[in-house]
Amino acid sequence: VDVPGGSYPVWIGAGLLERARDLIPTDAERVAVIAEEHLEGERIEGLRRALGSTSVFRVTGEVSKSPPMAERAWRWLATEGLHRGDLVIGFGGGVTTDLAGFAAATYNRGVDWVAIPTTTLAMVDASIGGKTGIDLPEGKNLVGAFHHPRAVIADVSTLTTLPDDVFTTGLAEAIKHGFIADPGLLDDLASGHDRLMSRHSDTLIEVIARAAAVKVAVVGEDPTEQGVRAHLNYGHTLAHAIEAIEGYEGRTHGRAVAIGMMFAAHLADQLGMGDRVLQHRTALEAFGLPIAGARHDFDAIAGTWQRDKKYERGMRFVLLEDIGKPAVVRDVPDAALRKAYEAVA
Ligand SMILES: NC(=O)c1ccc[n+]([C@@H]2O[C@H](COP(=O)([O-])OP(=O)(O)OC[C@H]3O[C@@H](n4cnc5c(N)ncnc54)[C@H](O)[C@@H]3O)[C@@H](O)[C@H]2O)c1
Ligand SMILES: [Zn+2]
Repeated sequence: VDVPGGSYPVWIGAGLLERARDLIPTDAERVAVIAEEHLEGERIEGLRRALGSTSVFRVTGEVSKSPPMAERAWRWLATEGLHRGDLVIGFGGGVTTDLAGFAAATYNRGVDWVAIPTTTLAMVDASIGGKTGIDLPEGKNLVGAFHHPRAVIADVSTLTTLPDDVFTTGLAEAIKHGFIADPGLLDDLASGHDRLMSRHSDTLIEVIARAAAVKVAVVGEDPTEQGVRAHLNYGHTLAHAIEAIEGYEGRTHGRAVAIGMMFAAHLADQLGMGDRVLQHRTALEAFGLPIAGARHDFDAIAGTWQRDKKYERGMRFVLLEDIGKPAVVRDVPDAALRKAYEAVA
């Protein structure tokens, strides 16, 4: 990943944890691991063995991305005697890597960190790009910092214990990457379905690498989120509204994004940009992702859009001019929005 003043590697493979020492560029005296509670003990032990003496702090669930947990993590790092030149590792899903990255961004005014993602979502999306943060009761990801990791190490062997519904919900982001930038990725997802679901190592490596590469390219082009990074929000304008209405407790993010992408496909069709509804439907349904079921009143959805600061200068939607060709569209007529929404309600 190219970032201002340097770059960092994203490793994707099987059995990488055992090689963590070689893959982590550090001369830190101390390594502090913030790890997902639901990882097998043996995985954590394996990482500890690979790194030498390391302490581990366990977290789990979206509640971990909170100010009280950030404080506990800071104080744990202080108790461990972590210094400027030391290293924090986030070992888990997006919740863990977001919290660990945030703790690393803020503790001692910033220490190095490494992301070791263990969910499909974290491997193709959350661990790449340097966005770290926590939630507030007032909203998700409201406090955070840009703090790129020194390396991302995605060991697909960790996905064997990931429940199928968590696995597929993360693939919604991979499907998104296919739609916005890499039509061939959609073919790989479709043809690799059975092997992916049975966690076939080589297929996982290929598909995850290809999906992660889209995020790597976009972040490299726009490290501080001024322009093209907006394309990663494909499907997210509706998804965020649904999630906000449901207080982030209704359904998984990936399932909301799936409906959001269907909405975007219907909206593009409404606006005469082409009918790619069937392609969306096929890609999503293959992995049991929803193609409708937003459920809420359109006015409630539009209300959350109007309250969101990002949309001060009018609503903007990422829509596809073609597969792999996203565009930001403004001034969308209300009638088209309503019609597209009806199709996914
Ligand atoms: N920083 C970013 O750019 C970015 C981008 C997208 C999402 N996110 C954030 O990521 C978070 C969601 O990440 P997520 O979907 O990975 O959720 P998560 O970290 O909560 O993990 C999902 C579930 O899987 C379990 N789990 C994780 N790894 C496992 C494994 N290997 N085996 C068995 N169980 C395992 C967890 O206990 C949890 O129940 C959200 O907080 C979101 O805001 C951040
Ligand atoms: Zn997302």
